[in-house]
Amino acid sequence: MYNYEELKHFVEHCSRCPLSAARNKSVMGRGNLHSSIMFIAEAPGYQEDRDGIPFTGASGKVFDELLASIGMSRDEIYLTNVVKCHPPRNRDPEPDEQEACIPYLKYETLLIRPRIIVCLGRIAAQRIIRSDFRITREHGQFLYRKNTWLTAVYQPSAILRDDTKMAETKEDFKVLFIRSREING
Ligand code: URA
Ligand code: SF4
Repeated sequence: MYNYEELKHFVEHCSRCPLSAARNKSVMGRGNLHSSIMFIAEAPGYQEDRDGIPFTGASGKVFDELLASIGMSRDEIYLTNVVKCHPPRNRDPEPDEQEACIPYLKYETLLIRPRIIVCLGRIAAQRIIRSDFRITREHGQFLYRKNTWLTAVYQPSAILRDDTKMAETKEDFKVLFIRSREING
């Protein structure tokens, strides 16, 4: 078992899949290592690849707005991605790239030990919850597996493209907030 700093070092120097060739910086997850809530998005975007930090671009503003709507900030949560390197032109990460990167996410989950995992978008939900997960139909629903609550919401970039999704996602966050209160007593 590795500690968090070791894991971060591996991610920063990783070349386990072809995404390493085109990336500028790999993007390790970030946030409160003791948080009970872990958000998992798809992959870093262009800005995140420049910065080496998750959600620093336009989607990050949407994410912060959602957190703020339930009175939370990034210091209280942990945030990461299924793949840690930016896929060229924001294409979906290929299954073999996800496969290569998933051990890092598994280690992150073991180290953070979240009580609630929130998938941001379809790719994360299909990877973490169920391979045929339908984000449009199933966002905001919770299921309990191995001592952890799992749920999924629209990804911030989808809200940027279609702002009617914002209201629905804020409702999902309200439910998330209530669930997190129940868990933390
Ligand atoms: N979109 C993602 O899925 N992850 C990021 O870190 C940034 C944008
Ligand atoms: Fe390594 Fe993951 Fe980056 Fe691929 S995406 S090079 S597996 S850190």
